[in-house]
Amino acid sequence: MESTPSQAGQTRRAASETLSGVQAGYDRWAAVYDHDANPLPALEEPRVREALGDAGGREVLDLGCGTGRHTAWLVEAGARVTAVDFSAGMLEEARRKVSSGRVRFIAHDLHEPLPLPEASFDAVVSGLVLEHLRDLAGFFAEARRVLRPDGRAVVSAMHPSMFLRGSQARFTDPDSGEVVAPGSLPHRICDFVMAGLHTGFTLRRLGEYAPDTGFVKRYPRAERYLDWPMLVVLTLEAGRRAPGSVRAGGLGTAPEPGPASREPTSREPALP
Ligand SMILES: C[S@@+](CC[C@H](N)C(=O)[O-])C[C@H]1O[C@@H](n2cnc3c(N)ncnc32)[C@H](O)[C@@H]1O
Repeated sequence: MESTPSQAGQTRRAASETLSGVQAGYDRWAAVYDHDANPLPALEEPRVREALGDAGGREVLDLGCGTGRHTAWLVEAGARVTAVDFSAGMLEEARRKVSSGRVRFIAHDLHEPLPLPEASFDAVVSGLVLEHLRDLAGFFAEARRVLRPDGRAVVSAMHPSMFLRGSQARFTDPDSGEVVAPGSLPHRICDFVMAGLHTGFTLRRLGEYAPDTGFVKRYPRAERYLDWPMLVVLTLEAGRRAPGSVRAGGLGTAPEPGPASREPTSREPALP
């Protein structure tokens, strides 16, 4: 059912309120983010690396880079990386961790147009950020705008089914013992997919991943999620844009969505 303009306005306001603590929450999380044995990044990283392929010599944009987890291995692999985040605390950790002439960090809110030129990147990576964004269409439009036509975006998110288990991004502050949840929205998988397709991306692969017993042995915190999907990873191809279809910092004309594919198992073949 379509919403009326006033319903849509209320929804946007409610989403903004939910997300009002994200920046401050991650500023607090920054000091312990890399050390709190969170199983999700461990489940995610090999999938993102494999989906992105060889990064050597490529120009890569890391959206919501956090403490630089993806930025670090990309630089190590020989990429030039532009890493964007709005949390000063997370960026400070990332700067400390990754010092290289091939990385630049930009403090920026992903709800605003990227301060980056069109068609200037070979790849976009974004790890575990989508649940903190109210404007998925704007995010994917900007990701596609800055990609070259043969560029690829690999975007991961905490699986929406985690919300059914009462789980969302949160950490325990080691100083106060307080559980801090920066603020997350319960998007659905179709919200991710359709936002990407409406922007003009082609969906190359959609993977949903659950921890198996071997993973749980290594990351005991994941035991309660054994065989439960914790992670979704979209691999998208930018393709050519119709002339005049993209304006800097905004949505262009949305082409008809392309076909979506879904692969429910984590044992997918490598991309050609
Ligand atoms: C769960 S962390 C993931 C960090 C990193 N990508 C990783 O996978 O380790 C989410 C990150 O998204 C950032 N973030 C959330 N909303 C944002 C926004 N509107 N603009 C910029 N960064 C945002 C947070 O500051 C945080 O660093």
